[in-house]
Amino acid sequence: MKLMRTFIVIFFVSLFFVSHSSGDLIDNICKKTSDYKLCVDSLIADPKSSSADKKGLAHIMLQLSLAKAGDIYNQTLVLLKKPMEPILKQCI
Ligand SMILES: *[C@@H]1O[C@H](CO)[C@@H](O)[C@H](O)[C@H]1NC(C)=O
Repeated sequence: MKLMRTFIVIFFVSLFFVSHSSGDLIDNICKKTSDYKLCVDSLIADPKSSSADKKGLAHIMLQLSLAKAGDIYNQTLVLLKKPMEPILKQCI
């Protein structure tokens, strides 16, 4: 599920921001993630990231994480309302 992958990448990037910094923050940090493009796109989409320091970027990423987690939760609720095999329901 793409959302889940996004969430996981963002989560680990957030952890990285909290513990690291240097030069071109976004570029350096995103290079070390499993999905560079997703990482950069996520940060660049937020206008606050251009002027943000390490802490600011961590804040932005955590907010993105929360929003994605909310999306996943909502999608899960939608899925659970659909008729399906009980075993699938348990997995979800
Ligand atoms: C999830 O659904 C609730 C209720 O419909 C809504 O208020 C909330 O904004 C949704 N969250 C996200 C992240 O879309």
